[in-house]
Amino acid sequence: MEDLRQLINASKLDFASCNSLTELDNVKSKYIGKNGPIAEAMKSMSGLSNEEKPKLGAIINEVKKGIEAALSHQKKIIQEDILNKKLNDESVDVTLPGIKRNSGSLHPISLTMRRIETIFHSIGFDLASGPEIEDDYHNFTALNIPESHPARAMHDTFYIDKNHVLRTHTSPVQVRYMKKNKPPLRIISPGRVYRVDSDATHSPMFHQVEGLWIDDSVNFANLKNVVQEFLQQFFEDDSLTIRFRPSFFPFTEPSAEIDMSWNDGWLEIGGCGMVHPEVLNQVNIDTESFQGFAFGLGVERLTMLKFGLNDLRPFFTHDLRFLQQFKV
Ligand code: DAH
Repeated sequence: MEDLRQLINASKLDFASCNSLTELDNVKSKYIGKNGPIAEAMKSMSGLSNEEKPKLGAIINEVKKGIEAALSHQKKIIQEDILNKKLNDESVDVTLPGIKRNSGSLHPISLTMRRIETIFHSIGFDLASGPEIEDDYHNFTALNIPESHPARAMHDTFYIDKNHVLRTHTSPVQVRYMKKNKPPLRIISPGRVYRVDSDATHSPMFHQVEGLWIDDSVNFANLKNVVQEFLQQFFEDDSLTIRFRPSFFPFTEPSAEIDMSWNDGWLEIGGCGMVHPEVLNQVNIDTESFQGFAFGLGVERLTMLKFGLNDLRPFFTHDLRFLQQFKV
């Protein structure tokens, strides 16, 4: 029995020399494994008398508990070691140089579009949108550009099929919006448009913003005021003025080109006019009760002027050296 008691101290020594959980497991089976001394002692019980059995049983229990306590004590030590080592390995060396991260930025065209939306929103315009693959009816016919009308030739159109085109302007959104909503209406619609055209100042895909205001008495003076107010805010220049040059668009009457004062001269930045009664008829708006104006501005133009650029091709060639300059 004393031999058994010795096992507690012997196991303590043995466990204390273990450095890993595997080693600990091996030593553990040496003491409380199937063929260990504890198991042997249990087996020997069968040969004992009824008085001796409980005595030995109690000692076996006590010894077993002692060994297990020694085991779990060492196990804790080893686990703590493992954790400390892990934490050490993972610690951050704050003296190392940092890793530079590339933060993205908005495309200059996106910046302009957002600016346009914010300014018009502040003047009370809602936002509207339409599909880029447009049908012939909305892109042309409903805008008073019937088939074989010479104005169709002005738009170098990409055809998808006989009846569908890549929209050549944002004006079809007017038609879609007026069909769905009853006047009074006040919207802008910025978006992509497409034409077969490509050089330093033309891209086959570019952006326009369409404006539309329909009410019982909106007039040409309101049109001029809204466009000028927008441009003054956009270019942050209260002295900026605009002038209208007589022009022709099938969907407006009268129509005008919009010129903006720029460096002692004038720059054309879009077209406008009073919505043609024929367009209002197409969308069932009563021309006796309602009238309004529309305008279309070139977004690339506005962006180039704002940032002082003279070539629009870099907008669409994905050169980060160019694009990163517009970080805000
Ligand atoms: N849709 C015309 C174009 O792309 C621009 C335009 C002119 C829009 C006059 C208008 C407008 O709404 O009234 O050339």
